[in-house]
Amino acid sequence: MQITCTINGKVHRFDCAPESRVLDLVREAGMTSVKAGCGEGECGACSLFVNGRLVNACLLLAPQIQDAEVVTLEGLQEETAAIRESFAEHGAVQCGFCTPGFVLRAYDYLSHGGERSEEAIKAALDGNLCRCTGYRKIVEAIVKVKS
Ligand code: FES
Ligand code: FES
Repeated sequence: MQITCTINGKVHRFDCAPESRVLDLVREAGMTSVKAGCGEGECGACSLFVNGRLVNACLLLAPQIQDAEVVTLEGLQEETAAIRESFAEHGAVQCGFCTPGFVLRAYDYLSHGGERSEEAIKAALDGNLCRCTGYRKIVEAIVKVKS
């Protein structure tokens, strides 16, 4: 089937099977910030925005992005600069595999007026897993993002 959508503002057309995962399509289109982690909606490594909503690309099938506006971290470099800097400053990145997902989660949270308390941020990060950092530094980095 043919799927047409925009990714980071550019039109993309995919000739793919209906059961193709959006995760694989966007990575094939060059958006490698979208990571193939658990593949079952548990880790948040494959996060991206579809029509303004943060979702797990491993759980979406190709027809679900027909005519949609897809945005990945590659398309939000300016908007996430302060968050990425804070992650670097506070040592919230180790292997980096989970980082794009955490940065997008933090961006979504903060841009919706999320509270800067550790408790609220921990709750907001519930759908994102990291195997390296122990989360403390990630939470600290988000609390201290410069606005
Ligand atoms: S790879 Fe999609 S949630 Fe883990
Ligand atoms: S920094 Fe390695 S998985 Fe999070």
